[in-house]
Amino acid sequence: MSATTLKETALALVAPGKGILAADESHATIGRRFEALGIPNSEEQRRRYRQMLFTTKGIGEFISGVILFDETIRQAADGGRPFGDVLAGEGIIPGIKVDRGAKPLAGPPGEQVTEGLDGLRERLAEYKTLGARFAKWRAVIAIGEDGRTPTRLGLEANAHALARYAALCQEAEIVPIVEPEILMDGGHSIERCFEVTEATLHTVFHALWEHKVALEGLLLKPNMVLPGTASARQAPVEAVAEATVRCLLRTVPAAVPGVVFLSGGQADELATAHLNAMNRLPGPRPWPLSFSYARALQAAPLRTWGGDPARVGDAQRAFRHRARCNSAARSGAYTAELERSAA
Ligand code: 13P
Repeated sequence: MSATTLKETALALVAPGKGILAADESHATIGRRFEALGIPNSEEQRRRYRQMLFTTKGIGEFISGVILFDETIRQAADGGRPFGDVLAGEGIIPGIKVDRGAKPLAGPPGEQVTEGLDGLRERLAEYKTLGARFAKWRAVIAIGEDGRTPTRLGLEANAHALARYAALCQEAEIVPIVEPEILMDGGHSIERCFEVTEATLHTVFHALWEHKVALEGLLLKPNMVLPGTASARQAPVEAVAEATVRCLLRTVPAAVPGVVFLSGGQADELATAHLNAMNRLPGPRPWPLSFSYARALQAAPLRTWGGDPARVGDAQRAFRHRARCNSAARSGAYTAELERSAA
């Protein structure tokens, strides 16, 4: 295994001013987003939607990599050029989601574990031939209202799966994005989210060490430290930024080349503002803080596109705008003026 290649790819994914577009929604997830806008969830509509995103002119200035779904990495743009080649032509690194979703964990109720390890070595080898240079696996951790979950067992089962996935990726010279997502659902406080995020990241990095995963050749994709969406006590942007960075400083080793946040259902402008505020905090920090958003990058262009071929240009403008704003947030340079400049 070439540790240098892995590290180079990881560093390219967090290059200054750039972040990752997660466009790896499963058929069910993209189906829910399409349905809300009355768009039929057909293979061709999914292809046209992803084509709209990937052929946005100049997007490589803000986007370093795109996470694809199994169907998408096998699809092509009009004219027959595979999407992986379209992206690589813009200087964007193609990636692939390899987990097979979170399923109820047998035993204690209320927890999930992510599946997809069986046959993963073989699938990674094939994705490599299709051009993937990085991968994603998402573990889902819910904060229970009764304070009982997540349990130690739930955290360890998910950390173990993430570590086995990451080790297999590195064996295949594919950079693993390690994503333990603490969900925003629920009425919990920001303090409880901090506590669960801290415990989760400790558990995950311990498992990565046990599985001999090279920290220099991976990226961490965490949630931000936020109060639950149903909490009456929402937190100001600066408080979220401060809590998130403090939690990461306690748990994420300096050897990790970068942290790329998920947006997790935050409103798109808020996800940008949070990232911006973190990057304005006084340093030093051992790793760059970037983005790997799905909803916070796609909500506006998806709504604008609405399945209508005549609106592709407007949708691409909406996508480029969100990408530009998040790019600015990488250096704390996102402003209200920049946000308004789209109009
Ligand atoms: P969101 O930004 O919508 O949370 O999605 C990121 C992602 O890739 C989840 O796995």
